[in-house]
Amino acid sequence: MREQLELFSHVAAAYADASGTLTNTALYRDVAQRAGLSDSDLQARVPIGSAGAPRSPVARKIRWMQQSLKQLKMIERVEGERGIWRLTERAGKDLDRAAEGVKLIAFHTELGMAIWSRHQNVFPLLDEPIHLCISSPPYPLRQARAYGNPDEVQYVDFICEALDPVVRNLAPGGSVVLNISNDIFTHKSPARSLYIERLTLALHDRLGLDLMDRIPWVNYSKPPGPTYWACVNRVQLTTAYEPVLWFTNDPLKVRSDNRRVLEAHTERHHKLMHAGGAGRTAEYGDGAYQIRPNSFGRITAGKIPRNVFERGHACRDTAAYRQHAKELGLPPHGAMQPTSLPDFFIRLLTEPGDLVADLFGGTTKTGLAAERLGRRWIVTEWILQYLRGAAEMYRDRPGFQMHAALDAVGGHHG
Ligand SMILES: C[S@@+](CC[C@H](N)C(=O)[O-])C[C@H]1O[C@@H](n2cnc3c(N)ncnc32)[C@H](O)[C@@H]1O
Repeated sequence: MREQLELFSHVAAAYADASGTLTNTALYRDVAQRAGLSDSDLQARVPIGSAGAPRSPVARKIRWMQQSLKQLKMIERVEGERGIWRLTERAGKDLDRAAEGVKLIAFHTELGMAIWSRHQNVFPLLDEPIHLCISSPPYPLRQARAYGNPDEVQYVDFICEALDPVVRNLAPGGSVVLNISNDIFTHKSPARSLYIERLTLALHDRLGLDLMDRIPWVNYSKPPGPTYWACVNRVQLTTAYEPVLWFTNDPLKVRSDNRRVLEAHTERHHKLMHAGGAGRTAEYGDGAYQIRPNSFGRITAGKIPRNVFERGHACRDTAAYRQHAKELGLPPHGAMQPTSLPDFFIRLLTEPGDLVADLFGGTTKTGLAAERLGRRWIVTEWILQYLRGAAEMYRDRPGFQMHAALDAVGGHHG
């Protein structure tokens, strides 16, 4: 029903009219009335989550939206002559960053929201179980990009401080997945930095996370590098992967399920399976590996993926983002992931309705993947132009709304 798509604005309006002092019950009533929902729509209960306890999905949505406005102390109105520019600070050519303390919902759908803010202003205030935090943080580059990079020495503290409030809210068995770079070298040397090892230990020692895996994202479409150590001074090989580190707060309760990411069987395996399995017996010298008649004969739904994520950069959403950015006169993003990466980990590690977070949103590929998979999502990004471009990818999603102040972003401005 169309009215339901406007829930978010109704929550904001009800809230503003009551100066933020509504009880939950009064809020549900008020919003339901504004949205033209009957009492029975509001009361209708369906099983939600893996425990399947009956809950009201409408009340749940209202609560979730209310939270973003109240608990996170979001700015709603952007007033004054300079509008949104009053809230920015320059971050480089064509890039404007949210000034300290600025927090605005750049756009939202029924399932999630992209918040224009520093993550430090948002996650410490959130009081809601997060099921998965998946992020591609800025890399520890010696020459920082315009959007901001910490150096290698600060990096472990930078990541631990960022993740601390998220880990506090992590649901039991929830996961933290970080896509980082392996190509960080010690000063004037082809030796790789050991920051990944330091970071892994710190996440365990300081935040109590356990390492589930280090999954290489193998990407043969990466430009050949490291330029100096492989192409000029020919001691290194050219890079084709980035590590994806997967942690959880409770390995025995981890919410992972590989049946959600099964791949199609090869044609050969399909035939073998349907022919009743192997027709021979084979035993290898040390007895470690045996094949018996009917081995591999069980009909299974698909292949369990290997722990290597092999995928090029090519991504329809990245192409769409570039096109929108060009049309709107926005700078492109320099470090976009293909949506397939968050999509894979969100399917593996969460169920529909769960909450997925990304502190370093960029073009919000995490949000987009979560949105399409029916998970709730919350993404922070501090560069205004990236969020303005990203909003275009959500236009057809239920409940989509972009903050009117973002209309002024793009093209040429003062
Ligand atoms: C590697 S990019 C993420 C790219 C993203 N995964 C994508 O596919 O578009 C890191 C992002 O973190 C943002 N960022 C850096 N520090 C931040 C902070 N304190 N709060 C919010 N965003 C931040 C940068 O502006 C940049 O867009």
